[in-house]
Amino acid sequence: APTPIIAPSILAADFAHLADEARVVESSADWLHVDVMDNHFVPNLTIGLPVVQSLLAVTTLPFDVHLMIEDPRRWAPAYADAGAYNVTFHAEACDNPVALAKELRSAGAKAGLAIDRDTPIEPYLELLPSFDTLLIMTIKAGFGGQRFIPELLDKVRAARRHAASGHLELRIEVDGGIAADTIEQAAAAGADAFVAGTAVYGAADPAAAIGHLRGLAER
Ligand code: DX5
Ligand code: ZN
Repeated sequence: APTPIIAPSILAADFAHLADEARVVESSADWLHVDVMDNHFVPNLTIGLPVVQSLLAVTTLPFDVHLMIEDPRRWAPAYADAGAYNVTFHAEACDNPVALAKELRSAGAKAGLAIDRDTPIEPYLELLPSFDTLLIMTIKAGFGGQRFIPELLDKVRAARRHAASGHLELRIEVDGGIAADTIEQAAAAGADAFVAGTAVYGAADPAAAIGHLRGLAER
């Protein structure tokens, strides 16, 4: 299995000091998870393209952009053009996910598909060859600090089975409530990329928290 990816979410960081907050995890994280919310797809508002562009210039970490926005066809390619490593948009917000994935890949980014809490995985399994990353929400998208919902790991299991039987190279990422007490079950279910907001930026030593999570995910 590929080595696990740990992706701290800057949603839980101090938005007045984003550059510093990125640097704090620069040598311990694999990706920097950036939650873009538009107050339409989810009832919360964060940052958009200008802030992400500025932030890209101050860290060497690969950016894992998670678009919780209503109109990903309009915006997702711009994040790829800006230099994001992985651009993930929500299945619920897009009527032609495969076409958008192609656009992202031809702009030089990895393409990610996100599945929110109430969305079944089955209709999307056949689309997975077009994607590099599948993000399974383990909470309802919109806010950090929510409690992990273990039942949602059934979707991770189904996706991992499907990916294995089709020999797909697919990162399966979990997002929401990932911490020392939940990451092992997510890894056992087949996840190999782990977003952690509160568990990293809420810790006294974020780099040490990442190291601890990584150890648990690797077992
Ligand atoms: C919520 C975001 C998450 C959030 C996770 O919709 O997608 O990335 O930052 O926060 P925690 O790790 O605190 O649950
Ligand atoms: Zn996220």
